[in-house]
Amino acid sequence: MMQVVNPVRFQDFSLESATQAVQEFKDQPGALLEALHKLQATFGYVDEAAMPMLAKLFNLSRAEVHGVTSFYHDFRRSKPGVYTVRVCQAEACQAMGSAALTDAIKAQLGCGLHETSADGLFSLEAVYCLGNCACSPSVMVDKQTYGRMSPERFKTLSAALAANAKGGN
Ligand code: FES
Repeated sequence: MMQVVNPVRFQDFSLESATQAVQEFKDQPGALLEALHKLQATFGYVDEAAMPMLAKLFNLSRAEVHGVTSFYHDFRRSKPGVYTVRVCQAEACQAMGSAALTDAIKAQLGCGLHETSADGLFSLEAVYCLGNCACSPSVMVDKQTYGRMSPERFKTLSAALAANAKGGN
């Protein structure tokens, strides 16, 4: 039986709470990255509506804030699914069929990499080595790693996660 993680709950975005969340970085000229991380940790993504507020806070242009946000691929620009599924694409996992696994997961969820399934449950991302090479191919759901993943096992896992998300609401 695979261990199922509980979904991470993020706050709903509002400009007011975003402004509050980053106040601690005010007057720290180099802290834009930290502020972006804080927003992502609080809301699960960096909302477009926060950009002018950040520009003002750090005395930057909106274009500069946009530039930093899009340069780092870690920052999500839209609300994530309840769970984030990361499929390892690095060498050991590739040798054990991660490309086919990724295709099967995409088909099952009906979304591509960097997208979220229509039911809002799963965001799909690529990752490059989860330190679990001995059990390739590996997948991570939020912070839980699962080895020897297959399309069939992923079906079982995603069904258990979906049930867990419903139970947790
Ligand atoms: S290559 Fe996939 S876990 Fe290391």
